[in-house]
Amino acid sequence: MEIDPAVINIRALRKTYARGAEEVHALQGVDLRVEHGEFVAVVGPSGSGKSTLLNLVGCLDTPTAGEYFLDGIATHRLGDRDLAFVRNQKIGFVFQSFNLLPRMNAWQNAALPLAYGGERRAGRRKRAEAALDRVGLSPRRDHRPNELSGGERQRVAIARALVNNPSMVLADEPTGNLDQKTGGEIMRLFEELNREMRVTLVIVTHEPDIAARCRRVVRIVDGLIVEDRSAA
Ligand SMILES: Nc1ncnc2c1ncn2[C@@H]1O[C@H](COP(=O)(O)OP(=O)(O)O)[C@@H](O)[C@H]1O
Ligand SMILES: [Mg+2]
Repeated sequence: MEIDPAVINIRALRKTYARGAEEVHALQGVDLRVEHGEFVAVVGPSGSGKSTLLNLVGCLDTPTAGEYFLDGIATHRLGDRDLAFVRNQKIGFVFQSFNLLPRMNAWQNAALPLAYGGERRAGRRKRAEAALDRVGLSPRRDHRPNELSGGERQRVAIARALVNNPSMVLADEPTGNLDQKTGGEIMRLFEELNREMRVTLVIVTHEPDIAARCRRVVRIVDGLIVEDRSAA
């Protein structure tokens, strides 16, 4: 363990996929350090390795080589079970397509990450409703996803991401399925969560106006970080 670790500390990270007989070098040696409370956009052309990087940062996949310390934990040394536990405790996910369960209502969706911990239903419900309240969706807590607008669905997904008080929230193109106005509202919510709750955020986007609202922009081209720029 390091003393006062960064949320993300990545060294010489590589990811190689097999595509038939061919190898795809999606990440070719990435170094990245993200501190608690940062708000980072990851940008770059299609196929540059953004999602691959986010999946590795999210412990959804394992690197071919390199090291990844999450809150000081050497995740590259963990097996699947420990990795799943770290993922559940420390990371909230927001996806472009919301990924809500259609048969569950808003609070049940928001409560899903709590199922792991063995907490009783009443406690899970209370925490899920607090998370829904945080994203302004309390009045919709008993609605199913098909009774909600796109922006409301993404808010449920954000409540789900926050419900475990994770070390960071990762979002892959979170505004990609929303119109411009709704996407702007979701970005405003992220800004608020970052400012008021000090939620660490990493957002993958190919939209320049979304990236412009993040305090730090990391640009990836061909599996390498080519630019890392912080707002003054
Ligand atoms: N599961 C996979 N198997 C094989 N190749 C993959 C896989 N996932 C991504 N790739 C390849 O890795 C490269 C980076 O992909 P990705 O990380 O999805 O880029 P981005 O999110 O920036 O569009 C691309 O060439 C893509 O085709
Ligand atoms: Mg992608």
